[in-house]
Amino acid sequence: MSQERLTTLLTEQRSYLPPQHGKSSAWVCGSEEAEALYRAALDDPNDFWAARASQLLHWFKRWDKVLEADEERHKYRWFTGAKLNASFNCIDRHLFSGRRNKAALIWQGEKEMDVRCFTYQMLYTEVCRVAHALSSLRIRKGDRVALYMPMIPELVIAMLACARIGAIHTTIFSGYAEGGVRSRIQGAKAKVVITADAAVRAGKLKPLKANLDPILEKCPSVAHVVVVNHADLYDVKMTPNRDIWWHDLIEDFTLDVDFPCESMDANDPLFLLHTSGSTGKPTGIMHSTGGYLTYAAHTTQWIFDMRDDDVHWCTADIGWITGHTYGVYGPLALGATTMMFEGVPNWPKPDRYWRMVEKFRVNILYTAPTVIRSLMRMGEAWTERYDLGTLRILGSVGEPMNPEAWHWYHRNIGGSELPIVDTWWQTETGGAMISPFPYATKLKPGSVTKPLPGVDAAVLRDGQTPDMDTSEGRRSGHLVIRKPWPGMMLGVYNDEEKYQSYFQRFGCYESGDGAEVDEDGYFWILGRIDDSINVSGHRLSTAEIEAVLASCPEVAEAAVVPMPHPLKGEGIYAYVVTRDEVPWSEDVRKKLRDTVRRDIGALASPEYIQFAEALPKTCSGKVIRRMLRKIAGGTYDDLGDTTALAKPEVLKPIIFGHQNLMLGQHETASAAAEEHGQEKDSTAEKQD
Ligand code: PRX
Repeated sequence: MSQERLTTLLTEQRSYLPPQHGKSSAWVCGSEEAEALYRAALDDPNDFWAARASQLLHWFKRWDKVLEADEERHKYRWFTGAKLNASFNCIDRHLFSGRRNKAALIWQGEKEMDVRCFTYQMLYTEVCRVAHALSSLRIRKGDRVALYMPMIPELVIAMLACARIGAIHTTIFSGYAEGGVRSRIQGAKAKVVITADAAVRAGKLKPLKANLDPILEKCPSVAHVVVVNHADLYDVKMTPNRDIWWHDLIEDFTLDVDFPCESMDANDPLFLLHTSGSTGKPTGIMHSTGGYLTYAAHTTQWIFDMRDDDVHWCTADIGWITGHTYGVYGPLALGATTMMFEGVPNWPKPDRYWRMVEKFRVNILYTAPTVIRSLMRMGEAWTERYDLGTLRILGSVGEPMNPEAWHWYHRNIGGSELPIVDTWWQTETGGAMISPFPYATKLKPGSVTKPLPGVDAAVLRDGQTPDMDTSEGRRSGHLVIRKPWPGMMLGVYNDEEKYQSYFQRFGCYESGDGAEVDEDGYFWILGRIDDSINVSGHRLSTAEIEAVLASCPEVAEAAVVPMPHPLKGEGIYAYVVTRDEVPWSEDVRKKLRDTVRRDIGALASPEYIQFAEALPKTCSGKVIRRMLRKIAGGTYDDLGDTTALAKPEVLKPIIFGHQNLMLGQHETASAAAEEHGQEKDSTAEKQD
């Protein structure tokens, strides 16, 4: 994060009290009740979590112990001995609680007229059919099923069908390309992959099944591919005995056949989701059935103050953890109505979200700062024409929200009244950890406010230990969680060493983020400290991008760092040392970008590629990224201690190269802005 942005965040002085209207009926109504909850969780955490688990979920068998902790190996097992099923909790029990005909899932396709709605009864029927179908493909408890799917209802149905059987689903974001998909399927050793003929995005088709075919040649674990006919592509190649159309597969299973839920141990894995770690290999985060689902339902209820007649819309793609917890498991476990949208915010016009809020009378909107920033740029004219009066709570996740975006969101979408819950969490934490309560917490724009009850978050400096008292005054450091919580990951799939690495530095869970805590105990997230980049709220690994760049024959060495980006939060900046005979040309740049795009996906394509003679390294040959980060952010004279550099003379040409690249960019940008100005005028005319 740039110094400038950091200063803006920390000097933001304004604060906002929670709204009075609606407070009396809130799940957490007012600061006194919130205080009581914080105290209760502190006094007896096991009691607190046991009460929440009982209130929120249906257990086939109650637990013997709330928490079994092996402090030495950092293994925490929640609700041991208990039995439950996530699909039962998200569907079956609502059939008998008066919600049978309530909308469970409302889907808006990219085309305005494409709307599908599933009541809890309909969801039950479809999930049972797909569970039967997967079972006919010999999927059993513990098997892995990869879901490489667009945002369509079949994705939710497939997740819940896996949960019903006890199979472990692993979703792969449909924006990922070859290498990204392959490593995730291979990492999970998936037996079945469910996909679609194509994803529809901003008017274009992305052929998912065709993308998948060459990948599967290197994935011997995959026995079957199930393909949803979503876009009516006419030339889908189906491999005999391996590939099956979704509609053909489920056709055999009649509508009235139940698929009995597998009785799962609370600590059986519910799903696996890969995130970007510090190596080139994605980290397979594994979540439990009992702890995760309790935490998902618990946080959804309190943070979004979920009421029975609410329409809840989490805009995140289900390929990411936010979509899992707050698009699917949290709301459905509570018997709520969840919205799902296939398209993007600005297509065909930048009013798509607000149109949907009015169309479906959305009450809770949970989105990302990137979305807000990009829609903010388009101006208020796009929001003003819609009735946003049903909105009650606004949410944000994924990146630090700059105060400017916060105020725009608050004013234009929230009518200067609605609470904004800015929630900090991660794939590993399962659900939100630091967040306001909408009707109880005073808000400071840009701050994620305070850790939730039962969440022992702190900031530690190197050398400090979790038992040190860090509660006084303003302080900054590594954001850690000192005590276990039910949503905590169960482990890293097939990689114990990686799991242990989260606990190495401080002896408690280290998030990889930096944070500052102010005098009121409010947390301000400063961004990643490790080698991750957060592009538009998507966490990417620098090592993964570097590995792809280094695989190109033109590249001798590459270092990838984040740079501040006005829209995406962070952009990707790559320093590339080419092999001797390779010219530094636009063609090479394009080829490198295309390779990353093809291998990982468009979201990992570098914003800038700077050619360099050499990279700054220590005497032992380790690249000093800290300096490269600063240069990429435009800081040249405060690069920190340069004595560790083996060859200090390499810095000057790198700085020079950065200046040149920015200058070139500036000229191109000015020319583009002129052109864009003309374009904008004509767009404005069309709007009028
Ligand atoms: O850096 C933090 C940032 O997103 C990272 C987690 O990424 P991922 O596992 O992909 O999960 C994203 C959605 C939960 C964190 O380490 N982050 C998440 N929420 C916030 C945030 N940064 C600032 N403010 C937030 N509210």
